[in-house]
Amino acid sequence: MEKTIDESIQGQALVLDQKKENKRKLFIESYGCQMNFSDSEIVASILEKEGFNTTQNLEDADLVLVNTCSIREKAEQTVRKRLEKYNAVKKNNPKMKVGVLGCMAERLKSKFLEEEKIVDLVVGPDAYKDLPNLIEEVEAGRNAVNVILSKEETYGDISPVRLQDNGVSAFVSITRGCDNMCTFCVVPFTRGRERSRDPQSIMKEIDDLVSKNYKEVTLLGQNVDSYLWYGGGLKRDFKHASEFQKATATNFAKLLDMVAIKYPKLRLRFTTSNPQDMTMEVIDIMAKHRNICKYIHLPIQSGSDRILKAMNRLHTRQEYFDLIDNIKSRIPDCAISQDIITGFPTETEEDHKDTLSLMEYVQYDYGFMFAYSERPGTLAAKKMEDDIPLDVKKRRLAEIIELQRKHSEFRHNSFIGQTVEVLIEKSSKKSSEHWSGRTTQNTVVVFPKDQYKIGDFAMVKIDGCTSATLLGNAVGYSDNN
Ligand code: 5AD
Ligand code: SF4
Repeated sequence: MEKTIDESIQGQALVLDQKKENKRKLFIESYGCQMNFSDSEIVASILEKEGFNTTQNLEDADLVLVNTCSIREKAEQTVRKRLEKYNAVKKNNPKMKVGVLGCMAERLKSKFLEEEKIVDLVVGPDAYKDLPNLIEEVEAGRNAVNVILSKEETYGDISPVRLQDNGVSAFVSITRGCDNMCTFCVVPFTRGRERSRDPQSIMKEIDDLVSKNYKEVTLLGQNVDSYLWYGGGLKRDFKHASEFQKATATNFAKLLDMVAIKYPKLRLRFTTSNPQDMTMEVIDIMAKHRNICKYIHLPIQSGSDRILKAMNRLHTRQEYFDLIDNIKSRIPDCAISQDIITGFPTETEEDHKDTLSLMEYVQYDYGFMFAYSERPGTLAAKKMEDDIPLDVKKRRLAEIIELQRKHSEFRHNSFIGQTVEVLIEKSSKKSSEHWSGRTTQNTVVVFPKDQYKIGDFAMVKIDGCTSATLLGNAVGYSDNN
């Protein structure tokens, strides 16, 4: 239908208004976990309404925001190095303002302003809605800090601006914070107490993604299995909820089931699971739905019961084996990955061997392994000496990484000869003639592009592999298209 003149004029005025408003440039970058990357998309959305456009060019920026991680000392050092870089850039662009977001902001609070002169703005993970006010302060020449943690899921009503967008897969956060208090972990201090997001707002966000043709959604939380919606509030306060709230509460299994039923063609993933909170109900729901990916990231941290106890992990080695056995018996093709920490205080060679033997039992598909890094304020830092020498930590870490490499290779090899469904995400980094996508088990597959496009589900016959990637050729479309 033709537009009337009036409509055209209004349209032009709108474009001009937007141009006038959108004149400030935001450079935002993220470190750490997927939650941080997802939060940066919320921040971009909040600031878009304030007239900020994102830029990929640091030198151009009016406002630079860095979303930070505190999980290990090295993560914090990386951010400090970036601040040095901003400092150099600011010499040619003196009006540029710099803000730190995320976990380091929460941990260091206003100390950040004293330690790093380049920083104008410090904002914790629950305070992003206050950014417009805080930026006004900064523009008036004052430093600004907001590190107040919340009791509610804070951003349910905000539709994120997709920053790392391939148009195919997106993250949707469902819980925030963590109540588990593992003794090594800074997260409960930087992300606050555990709270869940209203299922309706989760569904609305997924609806929007599906309508834009996204094919895969990852439900995100520090501890997704403890998702519990009973009308709002902290997870730990559920005991005071009314009988009605208890009867109508939605747990993680119910949420997964709801999403899987409503969107049968959408691939669903979730992360991170905590062994002590993962239920049989969740495993059964995974087994029931083809569209829930057969992959669980299930951190173990240590294979020694004594160390698990010292870490305040509330399960034993045997209970973890039982969980693995249950997963494998219900979902035989399920991939499992781990996080492991080596050199936790007091860890002996015996404890280390327990970790190696646990890995032999599970034969993980992937792994993320780290040397223990003492974090200020945690229970381990307060109560235990960081007594394992660095060379011992590093040697144990190397042994664990080597064993994991063997297991990953073994798992990858088992796919050779099989035909697997792959969701195509992007061009392969190594060759523009090849696509890169993932199987339901989260394994990356690279294959010639032929007639296929990004967002297609292709059936790929696997005929080889490298250490981290399966190689093959597409033999047709999957019936999920
Ligand atoms: N030192 C080393 N690794 C840690 N992790 C968490 N805290 C520490 C720490 N203090 C690891 C755990 C966790 C992952 C996200 O980071 O393995 O599961
Ligand atoms: Fe890092 Fe943990 Fe914060 Fe994520 S929640 S950014 S992993 S400290």
